[in-house]
Amino acid sequence: MKSVELKKGVYWVGAADWSVRDFHGYETPRGTTYNNYLIMDDEITLVDTVKYDFSHITINNIRRITDPGNIRHVVINHIENDHVTSIDRIMDLAPKATIHITERGKKGLDRFFDTSKWDIRTVKTGDTLKIGKRTLLFIETPMLHWPDSMMTWCKKDGILFSQDAFGQHLASSGRFDDEFCEKQSMAELEDAVIDYYANILMPFGPLIRDRIADLGKMGVNPDIIAPDHGIIWRSHVAKVIEWYLAMANDKADLSVSIIYDTMWHSTERMTVPLAHGIRDEGVEYKILKLRETPMNEVIKEFWKSRGTLIGSPTLNNIMFPTVSQFLTYLRGLRPKNRLVSAFGSYGWSGGAVRDTFAKVKEIGLQTHEPGIEVPYLPSESDETACYEFGRKFARQLKKYHAQFGQ
Ligand code: FEO
Repeated sequence: MKSVELKKGVYWVGAADWSVRDFHGYETPRGTTYNNYLIMDDEITLVDTVKYDFSHITINNIRRITDPGNIRHVVINHIENDHVTSIDRIMDLAPKATIHITERGKKGLDRFFDTSKWDIRTVKTGDTLKIGKRTLLFIETPMLHWPDSMMTWCKKDGILFSQDAFGQHLASSGRFDDEFCEKQSMAELEDAVIDYYANILMPFGPLIRDRIADLGKMGVNPDIIAPDHGIIWRSHVAKVIEWYLAMANDKADLSVSIIYDTMWHSTERMTVPLAHGIRDEGVEYKILKLRETPMNEVIKEFWKSRGTLIGSPTLNNIMFPTVSQFLTYLRGLRPKNRLVSAFGSYGWSGGAVRDTFAKVKEIGLQTHEPGIEVPYLPSESDETACYEFGRKFARQLKKYHAQFGQ
């Protein structure tokens, strides 16, 4: 197989993981890749490594280009396990290499490995590394998405090595965005970007806005964005930055995600008239059952919609466990600027709707109250009430959405 070249002398030497379906609890139906890059200059430089299980693949990819013993520098942009657990195998093969890493990254690396045997240089924003015709610039991006994170800018080639930022969990035969869009679609690519952002980067919107602005001020205007997962951006660089800025500004569609679970289908039956009411106000909707939908998919759809209706049966006076699980995960992601209401059914006494509102307020989201709760099975008049509730929620949502001017 030919090596994948980003620009003359800069190679992708990573690995595709076609079979991973559970990425630290995150469902990845499209697999993923662990990207890293080899720069062939006077001093050969490896940017990032890969997950341990894929060490042999990256080593073989490097060997197709050069003997790993020739590597003089290894840049570690991020120390999460999927990127750094092969570093000891790489360093065994490249004993003359110096590692370049942030101070926070070094502290983390010390916890994973005996680093005393390696030559390590800690770097901060503005530090550079001249490797021949190229000079690499390091840019710290703390909390994007770990405290240790940084990016590496190669001005000569116009390549920004962005670690997890701008990544997606996508295994594909083509390495570049244009190749992916030609064989699959831009819509699928955007969906993968949103999925990744919603589940990993959602809490950091203000930081993302600031860091993108900082890159511009530092003269970082990439022709290529080379992330650590998924496809490499070379034809849609401006588009992915535009998507990121929109998401960092809490962009959402005027639509409703109806997210629910059910015991004996009563709460489930409520979703239909609710949806019809929403639709009759001209608002789109999507219905997601928690027990049947991967959590990251639920989070992605929540994030895409300006409004959400959360449905839960009452179990032992509180919400259903899967609904609680969803709200717990959502709380950690610190979403903003979404309107939420609640619905549900109960046998002996209610409680789930009250409980749901309490949790939604803890998260800090805007609520539309009261919700709607019915005993046992929705009657015809309950279904009419659900329909009217759906219409009312959609009308309120249209007013709420208008303030964002999106
Ligand atoms: Fe892909 Fe934060 O590791």
